[in-house]
Amino acid sequence: MSAGPAPGSSQPADAVAGSGGAAPPVFRVRDLRKVYEMGEVQVHALRGVDLEILAGEMLVLLGPSGSGKSTLLNILGGLDLPTSGSVEYGERRLDGADEALLTRFRREHVGFVFQFYNLIPSLTARENVALVTEIARYPMRPEEALTMVRLQDRLDHFPSQLSGGEQQRVAIARAIAKRPQVLLCDEPTGALDVETGIVVLEALERVNRELGTATVVITHNAAIADFADRVLSMANGELVGERRNETRRPLSEIHW
Ligand SMILES: Nc1ncnc2c1ncn2[C@@H]1O[C@H](COP(=O)(O)OP(=O)(O)O)[C@@H](O)[C@H]1O
Ligand SMILES: [Mg+2]
Repeated sequence: MSAGPAPGSSQPADAVAGSGGAAPPVFRVRDLRKVYEMGEVQVHALRGVDLEILAGEMLVLLGPSGSGKSTLLNILGGLDLPTSGSVEYGERRLDGADEALLTRFRREHVGFVFQFYNLIPSLTARENVALVTEIARYPMRPEEALTMVRLQDRLDHFPSQLSGGEQQRVAIARAIAKRPQVLLCDEPTGALDVETGIVVLEALERVNRELGTATVVITHNAAIADFADRVLSMANGELVGERRNETRRPLSEIHW
């Protein structure tokens, strides 16, 4: 993880924005396995996953609870290490990387969005985003990131003054403000009602389109998969299905 641009560059990537086609892979995953040791019991959370994620791609990851989605996402994001198998991020190997390298990888290249927003209650929307932009190398201004998720009128609101969907959009603004090459979202709409969830997904879709950020969205909800370039299904620690959408369906046409 030496200094220098990410594969394809982590800077504004107009050339690959929204493409699901000929873009180079950001991630190459081979025979990925993860075993959690729980005393006497072994949990095989990933049982040999092979996967490539392309620059600028919008990917939806479906699968029942316990199928290994979060484990896979956490390993891609450098939050956890596999038991075996390889994860390449561009030219770099993440499997077996030490904590310092993983920390740097996460800080420079990855944005995370989780089900719960984890905003700091005593800071405004703008200040929550600024926490990240202050330590990033090529940040947007907080106002710019918040505008991208259509919160330009809520800059000085505190989390308690925002709806759940608005709080999640602040979390997205925080995640994208450093212009990550990859955005990893673990059930970002899990705590939201349908309409609010769609607004949140629209924000992810806009970021993907305008910044060319490769985006992985975990969801239980098969209905929203049509807005992705590609849909992967997991069961029992394995990838069991893959579908490519020739055209992405606008979220305004999707109901669940
Ligand atoms: N930290 C952990 N320690 C032990 N077992 C875990 C841990 N995290 C996940 N698991 C187990 O690994 C399997 C996959 O979990 P997870 O990746 O969270 O699935 P999903 O996100 O699809 O619901 C489940 O059986 C879960 O109980
Ligand atoms: Mg999960």
